[in-house]
Amino acid sequence: MSDFLQRDPLTPAFWDERFERRFTPWDRGTVSPALRRFVAAHAPMTTLIPGCGAARELLLLRAAGWNATAIDFSPAAVAVARQLAGPHAEHVVVADFFAWQPTEPLQLIYEQAFLCAMPPAVWPRLAARWAQLLPAGALLAGCFLVGDGFKGPPFAITRSALDALLQPAFVCETDDVVDDAIAVFAGMERWMVWRRR
Ligand SMILES: C[S@@+](CC[C@H](N)C(=O)[O-])C[C@H]1O[C@@H](n2cnc3c(N)ncnc32)[C@H](O)[C@@H]1O
Repeated sequence: MSDFLQRDPLTPAFWDERFERRFTPWDRGTVSPALRRFVAAHAPMTTLIPGCGAARELLLLRAAGWNATAIDFSPAAVAVARQLAGPHAEHVVVADFFAWQPTEPLQLIYEQAFLCAMPPAVWPRLAARWAQLLPAGALLAGCFLVGDGFKGPPFAITRSALDALLQPAFVCETDDVVDDAIAVFAGMERWMVWRRR
């Protein structure tokens, strides 16, 4: 669709327009199997899902007893997520990731199509915020769009740029191919777990 009025992905209005028109090609429509495996393998963690969109992960995490909160600065996204979250709707919050404050220390930030929603100029600010919100030993995990050549969104990141961005504050513990990526991310999605230094 080329007739969208909103062109700046740094504004909620950009995402509102797409959610309201049901144009959400980034939405995998289900929870990543890699996240299911991760949840099955770990004890519950206090988790933040920033830029949650439809927040399909919230239901999985909450049902498994995880203290999870999903945030998005687009009211239209949050409306979709709250409907899908059913009894857990109160844990979906309209908030800007750069301003949101946790009420208790986070153990995990879940990443999925959030970094790639931001232009590269914003990445250092995003990485700094991840590092600020996660205490030493906590995890940043999820599906990262690693590749080249996207003028975005989505804005893929090269592996060397991702390392430069994260390695000052995080150690990469897992880097696996996501072999069930949806069409728009095919061949570029990686399941990664980064631990805060
Ligand atoms: C590409 S979508 C991904 C949504 C979801 N994570 C998924 O994988 O389906 C990016 C989302 O990030 C949200 N977003 C962008 N910047 C944000 C910010 N500063 N604070 C909170 N949400 C933001 C958008 O509203 C949008 O819902």
